[in-house]
Amino acid sequence: MARAPAPPATPGYIWDMPNWKHHVFICTNQRPAGHPKGSCGEKGSPNLVAALKAAVEEHELWGTVKVSSSSCLGPCAKGTTMVVYPEGTWYGGVTEADLPELVQQHFVGGERVARLVIDG
Ligand code: FES
Repeated sequence: MARAPAPPATPGYIWDMPNWKHHVFICTNQRPAGHPKGSCGEKGSPNLVAALKAAVEEHELWGTVKVSSSSCLGPCAKGTTMVVYPEGTWYGGVTEADLPELVQQHFVGGERVARLVIDG
């Protein structure tokens, strides 16, 4: 799949919004060490964001999957937390080791990875 061309530097040009099939938000909130709620950031979520972006590139999914970091999504104790829209699937305890399965089963195959699903 070819990348969308960069928008021209023309005044008044309106960027065509990509029609992503999945928009993934990964919490990268970082609380101080020892905070009772913990945080996804201290569990390595910034690296998870980078690894998922790399996997999207590797599988040429940039036209259908958008990966964004986010502030706290709420279920801190279940982090690292990820939510996928528009379907509203919540995943918890996600690590880099889970990414191949998430990419193939969810982002390519369209099926949730049940063992990682949490209630938001
Ligand atoms: S710190 Fe990640 S969900 Fe709250």
